[in-house]
Amino acid sequence: MEKREQMYEGKAKKVFATDDDSLCIVSYKDDATAFNGEKRGTIMGKGVINNRLTNRLMRLLMENGVPTHFVEELSERDTLVKRVKIVPLEVIIRNISAGSFAKRYGVEEGIVFEQPTIEFSYKNDELGDPLMNSYHALALKLATAEEIETIKAYSFKINEVLKAFLLEHGIELVDFKLEFGRLPDGTIVLADEISPDTCRFWDVETHEKLDKDRFRRDLGGVEDAYQEVMRRIIGD
Ligand code: TMP
Ligand code: ASP
Repeated sequence: MEKREQMYEGKAKKVFATDDDSLCIVSYKDDATAFNGEKRGTIMGKGVINNRLTNRLMRLLMENGVPTHFVEELSERDTLVKRVKIVPLEVIIRNISAGSFAKRYGVEEGIVFEQPTIEFSYKNDELGDPLMNSYHALALKLATAEEIETIKAYSFKINEVLKAFLLEHGIELVDFKLEFGRLPDGTIVLADEISPDTCRFWDVETHEKLDKDRFRRDLGGVEDAYQEVMRRIIGD
């Protein structure tokens, strides 16, 4: 399958049409942004790592009964996916306090929750992705009640599958962001990516950060962290 016209360019990926209108090609870039695009940079090799990691994790989820948009890895940076309409909700699952949760509620990072939490934000860059609950999403008709229930159930299931898998590779899954899409028949599937850009990964022993927080917070060792996650999950 070959790339035709570019349909969309986001902060970390480009999306191309193909000759089949039910499919498109996602191409992962090395560009990194944080704080709604205010901070910009390049993480060398990130596109390759995020493409390969996302596909490995999407395959794992499909084996565990979670439908996804994944079709086929085409090259280091390019993946064939089913064309979906993205539900404009970012779903965030947290197992351990960190990031905006720690800031919002005035607690330290690293509190292990007895149960995971879920939150939604409205996927809208102009508004800075504001936090919302499911009633707000329903009021704005971003999704139906049934779709929201499906999205919640898949999100918690994804958390269980990923948490267990990552732990086998010495990684603690602190929190992560998911996006879902609708196929033409209305079926909800997991879309977007699952990578160190969209998850917090901590080393299980040392709690060292192995994700995009190294870029967001200028901690250094950004490329090394991405490579380490790749090495642990996929191998060299
Ligand atoms: P937060 O603590 O900043 O709300 O982030 C929660 C998780 O969501 C974290 O794993 C990083 C991820 N995330 C994104 O993927 N995209 C975003 O724009 C933001 C703000 C967070
Ligand atoms: N990717 C997001 C942005 O630049 C923020 C983040 O991941 O922290 O808007």
